[in-house]
Formats: sequence, structure tokens, C-alpha cells
Amino acid sequence: MPVIRTEQLTKIFRVVRKEPGLRGSLKALVRPRFENIAAVNQVSFEIDAGEIVGYIGVNGAGKSTTIKMLTGILVPTSGSVQVLGRDPHRQRVANAREIGAVFGQRTQLWWDLPFIESLALVGRIYEVPPARYRQLLKDFEDTLGLSELLHIPIRNMSLGQKMRAELAATLIHEPRVVYLDEPTIGLDLLAKERIRDFIREQNRGRGTTVLLTTHDLGDIEQLCPRVIIIDAGRLIYDGPIATIKERFGRHREITFETSEATTAIELPRDCTRLAAEPHRLTLRFDRTRTTASQIAAAVMEQIEVLDFSLAEPDLASIVRQIYQGGLREVEGNPRS
Ligand SMILES: Nc1ncnc2c1ncn2[C@@H]1O[C@H](COP(=O)(O)OP(=O)(O)OP(=O)(O)O)[C@@H](O)[C@H]1O
Ligand SMILES: [Mg+2]
Repeated sequence: MPVIRTEQLTKIFRVVRKEPGLRGSLKALVRPRFENIAAVNQVSFEIDAGEIVGYIGVNGAGKSTTIKMLTGILVPTSGSVQVLGRDPHRQRVANAREIGAVFGQRTQLWWDLPFIESLALVGRIYEVPPARYRQLLKDFEDTLGLSELLHIPIRNMSLGQKMRAELAATLIHEPRVVYLDEPTIGLDLLAKERIRDFIREQNRGRGTTVLLTTHDLGDIEQLCPRVIIIDAGRLIYDGPIATIKERFGRHREITFETSEATTAIELPRDCTRLAAEPHRLTLRFDRTRTTASQIAAAVMEQIEVLDFSLAEPDLASIVRQIYQGGLREVEGNPRS
């Protein structure tokens, strides 16, 4: 039985439409015109126990709104959502006992209390048996390096420390399902690694089901065998990350800054030109057919190059390519 199931899940927000400028603001005040936006639009998916799934999409795609419906904070406009067989909103209390949620951009802990006191409070709220609490605290001290943080108030923590504290507090009642919304946002590489290791460990060791939202493709590659991609509220892909990497990880972009105009340049083999600026040349190439150095050599033969850079593929470009390549969710969907 799936742990999370959504069917045609939809959330419509009614917002005041405002035209630009002061005039627009005044008009919106006097005679507001409303407009509906579908933040989440008929999204259906199922997640099994013990899965770790990446839920990704560009800014405003509808990720957080989905997670809020899964936690019961928001009520769907239509469609349905079930978590562990319950309606998360109607059975909010029962649901809360078995889930945990981290919203990377804000804390749910008491700002001024030393962390250990916050954690103890959370433990009591969830009625974690004292022996179990001590055991988990000890585990987390090792895996999250908590010892050094126990006596610091959240207010004085760095971003990475705060996230470690947050994760410990979210997992101290051993939820079966965890939603992580941008858990590595703003962290340096080392801090990211630590958080990823911890998430992996919770998933493997305890069988915790994890739904992870992130803009960081590194998180996804390292943690999530399966991804669900949404765009403008709609599900556009549900399937293995491997398929995405095969299909879209093949292309790279290289940008040259040049002293002369690049308009007359003859393109090297196996690449296409993207940007058209006079002193800048951006080329897209297929990694399986040519290399960055071959392209660089061919360009430098023709024109003086001041600098060049190689871009890693990002989510926006993957989403763009999904539309262009016509890859539909059904292709990779293990359940279709
Ligand atoms: N409470 C709200 N009232 C009105 N509109 C909202 C509300 N919450 C979200 N939206 C809108 O719904 C859409 C989806 O927002 P959501 O926060 O779910 O996106 P997201 O995928 O989490 O984006 P991000 O990557 O920026 O966190 C956006 O257009 C947003 O402006
Ligand atoms: Mg969000």
C-alpha cells in the first residue's frame, strides 16, 4: 500500500490582480479584481514506504503548496490526498504524530531557548518515551554532530547548524514520513554533505519515507532514485532520475567571452549556438559526441577568446528540455 497517494490534487489560490505602478495599486485597493491561480493542478502520484523521492521544479512550480497539503496545513481545492491512509487535514493530529516536516527557510524551534531545551520540549509534546529519547539523542549526536550545538540558542546558530538542529527536532519522534522542503538551501558543500548523509541514513536505517524538495540537483543525484517534476502546478515527469540524466545530462553549455564580434564564426561540429550577443558566444553540445576542449580549440582558432566557462545543467534547462523533447511522465513512470 502506498504511504502517500494524491489523486488529481489541486490547489487554487484567489489573488488580487494588480496592474503595475501606483495607479495599479490604487485601483486594486478601490476595486479589486480577482484572479485564480492553480498553484497545484491535478497532480497524481503514489509513494511507497521506504522510498526517497525528489520533488522538483523551478520557483513557483507548486512544490511547497503540495507539501503543505500533504502535511494538512492547506486544504485542497479539489482532488484528494492520503498519507498513511488518512486525510492529513481532517485527521491533523493523528497525521502529525507520524510525519515530520522541515521547511528550510524558517525554523519551528524556540528562537531563544538553548537547543537542548527546545528538543526536550518537542520530545515531550510528542510523548517520546524518555529512554527512547536518550537513545535517539545519542544517535543524532553522532550523525549530526549535535554535541557542540546543544547549549546554543537557535538564534545564535549558523544556517548549517540550524538545519542540523531542525532535522533532529523533526525526527526525534521517529516519523514514518518526512517532508523536507529545501533542507540544504544556502549551505556550503561540507554542510550539505552532512545533511545528505543524515537523510540517507534515516531512510536506509529506519525505512523513513522521504519526500525531498530542492533546487540542488546534487541533492537529487545523491539521494533520490526517483524524481517527480512539476511545472506551473502540473506534473510533467515521474520516473527514475537515471532517465533524466541519460536524456538530458548529455548536453553541456559552454560560453566564450571574445574581444571581437562572434557573428561570423563558423560553428564547430556537433554543437548549436544559443545566445546571440556580439562579444559572447554560448554553445550547446552533446557530451557523447564531442568535448569542451575540442570546441574551445575550434573557437580559439577563429577568434581571440578572453575567457570561457562551462555551465552545469540546471533544473530550468532540464524542464525546458522536457517540453522540447516531448518526454511525458508516462515514459518513466514505474506505475503507468
Ligand atoms: N498563500 C498563497 N496565496 C496566493 N498565492 C500563493 C500562496 N502560496 C503560494 N502561492 C502561489 O502559488 C504558486 C506556487 O507556489 P509554491 O510556493 O508552491 O512554489 P514552489 O514550487 O515551492 O516555489 P519555490 O521554489 O520558489 O519555493 C506561486 O505562483 C505562488 O505565488
Ligand atoms: Mg517552495
